[in-house]
Amino acid sequence: MDLFNTTPDFSSLSYPELEKEAQKCQKCVLGKTRTNLVFGVGPVPCDLMLIGEGPGEQEDLQGIPFIGKAGQLLTKILESIDIKRPDDIYISNIVKCRPPENRTPSNDETEACYPFLEAQIRLVNPKIILLAGAPAAKTILKISEPITKIRGQWFKLPGTDISVMPIFHPSYLLRNQSKEPGSPKWQTWQDMKEIRNALDFIKHVKELEN
Ligand code: URA
Ligand code: URA
Repeated sequence: MDLFNTTPDFSSLSYPELEKEAQKCQKCVLGKTRTNLVFGVGPVPCDLMLIGEGPGEQEDLQGIPFIGKAGQLLTKILESIDIKRPDDIYISNIVKCRPPENRTPSNDETEACYPFLEAQIRLVNPKIILLAGAPAAKTILKISEPITKIRGQWFKLPGTDISVMPIFHPSYLLRNQSKEPGSPKWQTWQDMKEIRNALDFIKHVKELEN
C-alpha cells in the first residue's frame, strides 16, 4: 500500500523516458555517491533477461552492467550456451547505483529502485528471467530459501507467466573455482544447459507459430 502516494507511476513511460527518469533519480543514498547510474543493456524487448545485485566499481565507472571480473565470467558462461552480449540478453540489476564498498543493497535502496525494475520487466517483456545471486532471488521471488536450495529451479514471476530461474552469482563462482561434480561451477553448467533447452523450446514454438 502506498500511503503517501509517493510510488512513481512509470506504467506509461517508454524505455528511453524510463531511463531518463532513472538518470536523475535521488530516491536513495546511493544516488549521492554514484559516478554513473547503471540502468541496463540489451535489446528491448528481449526473450531473456538477467537481474544481478548492483553495480561494482567498473560498472559504476562505465555505466554498463557486469563488465568487471564477475561480469567477464558471466559473459563466458553465457557464451558457453551461445548467448551473446549484448544482442541475446537484456542485463540489469536490483539497484542501479553502486553500493559503497560493494556491500549488499539495503532494503530501503532495493525498494526505492524497484519501480524502475518493474517497468524494465514490463518493457523488456522477457519469457525467461535469470536471477544472479541471493539478493536478486530474494527481491524478485520474495522468498528467503538459500540460493543453494533454489538455484536451477524454475519459478513463475508472481502474477505473470514469466519463467524465472535463480542461478549462482558469478562473484561466488570466482571464489569457488572447482569444477568437480556437485561444485557450484558444475551446478551452474547444469543450469545453463537447462536454460539453453528452454530457449530452444521458445524458439521452436515461435517458428511453429509463424
Ligand atoms: N555484480 C552485479 O551484481 N552486477 C553488476 O552489474 C556487476 C557485478
Ligand atoms: N551467496 C550469494 O549471495 N550468492 C551466490 O550466488 C551464492 C552464495
